[in-house]
Amino acid sequence: MKETGYAYAKINLSLDIVSKRDDGYHNLKSVMQTVCLHDEISLECEPGKGVSIDAGMPYLPGDERNTTAKAVHAFFGFTGINGYHSCIKIKKNIPVCAGLGGGSTDGACVLRLLDKMFKTELGYKTLETIGISIGSDVPFCIEGGTKLVEGRGEQLTSLPPVPHCFIVICKPSFSCSTPELFRHIKCDRIHARPDTGGLIKALEDNNPGGVARRMYNVFEDVLPRGKQNISEIKNALLDNNAMGAVMTGSGPSVFGLFDIEENAINAYKQLKEIYPECFLTETINDQT
Ligand code: C5P
Repeated sequence: MKETGYAYAKINLSLDIVSKRDDGYHNLKSVMQTVCLHDEISLECEPGKGVSIDAGMPYLPGDERNTTAKAVHAFFGFTGINGYHSCIKIKKNIPVCAGLGGGSTDGACVLRLLDKMFKTELGYKTLETIGISIGSDVPFCIEGGTKLVEGRGEQLTSLPPVPHCFIVICKPSFSCSTPELFRHIKCDRIHARPDTGGLIKALEDNNPGGVARRMYNVFEDVLPRGKQNISEIKNALLDNNAMGAVMTGSGPSVFGLFDIEENAINAYKQLKEIYPECFLTETINDQT
């Protein structure tokens, strides 16, 4: 049996860390958005056991640490289906460790493909419940679109879709450790937070400029010193008439939101000369 699918990247239009939880994780408040940039996943299940992964890149784990392997085990564990060997091939387009949910969306895609292949008809809610055992961003990536994400990442509220926008994503060469950034953040010492309510109101009013003006990520304020590329990239995006620009997730990728395609193309061309991992994409609201 074989299924193939696309695993779309996410951006955080806003990211607020609300409180530390007793389980060591943090409660978030984030408006997330799916974008067209995607990995391609092929999944084959035949009688046998175990999982083999061809991630196409030497530095990506091809073993049980890969989110797609975790997804296979979580799905078979939940449904009680057994006796299959899963062969997963991933064509990676989304940069890794970039704040774009690359690993999470691959895991979410495998859950959707398994649900289809085995005709289990679990539905998004159940797949999201399985997804949180794989990673905090996996539940959002199951259905995608425009959503308010709270709790550890499992509380999802659908929002009016973001008006169609062009997006330039640029990943500087350094990487940020997600657990380390979470360790650095002290919830009671966050001085500036996103206006999440205002951002949601702008979505309700179909006002992309209002969304862009309210984009904010609290992690930008706790980045280690020497990460000035973030502001350089933001300035380049804004100089090319981005409506707004902000870091996504725990970084280091920065994206700009554009209403005019030509401006996005100009920003992309300028940044691509300096940063090889630069992408021109757009919002997508239905990933099925
Ligand atoms: O769930 P995931 O494996 O993606 O999380 C990676 C790390 O990010 C966790 O080990 C934790 O340190 C941090 N995290 C957190 N609170 C969240 C999500 C992630 O503290 N809601």
